[in-house]
Amino acid sequence: MFELPSPILEITEASYHAGGRMILENCNLKLYPSEVLAIVGCSGSGKTSLLNILAGRVSPASCTVFRLNGQDMLAGGDPVVARLWRKATGYVTQDAAETLDLNMSACANIARRLFELGLTHAGDALQRAQDRAERLGLPAGRLSEPVRSFSGGMRQRVQIAAAMVHDPEILFLDEPTSGLDSIAQALFLETLMQVRQEGGTAMILVTHDLRIARLIADRVLVMDAGWIVAEAVTDRLMTEPVHPVAKALVEAMI
Ligand SMILES: Nc1ncnc2c1ncn2[C@@H]1O[C@H](COP(=O)(O)OP(=O)(O)O)[C@@H](O)[C@H]1O
Ligand SMILES: [Mg+2]
Repeated sequence: MFELPSPILEITEASYHAGGRMILENCNLKLYPSEVLAIVGCSGSGKTSLLNILAGRVSPASCTVFRLNGQDMLAGGDPVVARLWRKATGYVTQDAAETLDLNMSACANIARRLFELGLTHAGDALQRAQDRAERLGLPAGRLSEPVRSFSGGMRQRVQIAAAMVHDPEILFLDEPTSGLDSIAQALFLETLMQVRQEGGTAMILVTHDLRIARLIADRVLVMDAGWIVAEAVTDRLMTEPVHPVAKALVEAMI
């Protein structure tokens, strides 16, 4: 009989409160190796909050299971857990200034995670950063320039290179194309498709645009008011949306 591999990331019954109110309630999610999972929903539905929990950036108020690569993320001491996240994951946000130092060179930004993980040879780190950047279509001749001088699309590619320089198992992306014009958006989606084709990296992509989910995700979760209200293989969600929010998102594509 066909058996699914073990999930690389798993959370059960997660809730999150902020500003004195409930933001997420009873969220359950499993991510499998090399899978691309999209989290979709309207603005304010809790997508970023859920992604931040999954990426170890904020702690859930409660949950019963939280495992990364089979390791219990609720049990370990903080520094140990933080290192596991740093090693296994990368994070790309809508606003590059959130994860990059815009005054530093692209190459230094990209190499940063390698130093954080203990690589001490600067030459090796910068070489790896350069290789990763070039594979993602960044021009070698501009890598020593500060990120501030780059266009929005190039900044996003620097972010993804920085998030992948250490070959993480999971890449988290929060609306990575929302701030881009349509041409830069198309180019960035090509970059994501390329990462997908290279294989080995699972992704969780937050987007309010189902067209992007359709392009790259194997599976889609739909969120509404802090709840996961639908979950389906992407094609199935597109052709047979059941929940009203899923239906509205599918209709908004046409
Ligand atoms: N730290 C916080 N303090 C207060 N409210 C928050 C906080 N983080 C998120 N929220 C609220 O939680 C809801 C979900 O936010 P968010 O996860 O950013 O949604 P989405 O990414 O789907 O737009 C929003 O109403 C937002 O204002
Ligand atoms: Mg958001």
